[in-house]
Amino acid sequence: MSRPKKHVFICIQNRPPNHPRGSCSQKGGNELLQAFWREQQKHGAFEEVAITYSGCIGPCDDGANVLVYPEGVLYGGVTPDDVAEIFERHLLGGEAVARLQVPAEAW
Ligand code: FES
Repeated sequence: MSRPKKHVFICIQNRPPNHPRGSCSQKGGNELLQAFWREQQKHGAFEEVAITYSGCIGPCDDGANVLVYPEGVLYGGVTPDDVAEIFERHLLGGEAVARLQVPAEAW
């Protein structure tokens, strides 16, 4: 495997019910992960895009969170409906999706 151009981390952290921080898993993180894998398969982007599930990234209130490197762009409140746009515009096209970025004061 060659080094990917983009590496996407999708938070699937889980916490007990009523935990004060909540979790991305409770906000659909696992469905999001499946949507990214489907989109990767659709584009055959197995070499240029790496997809990794992760534990807590930090700003849980903004979840479900997705972190993209090498830029360090953090997307918050992401749903499966947003995945095609992130994939095509950012991961393949190189332009971050501004409307989904977590505000600078949170990240
Ligand atoms: S639980 Fe996902 S960022 Fe904290």
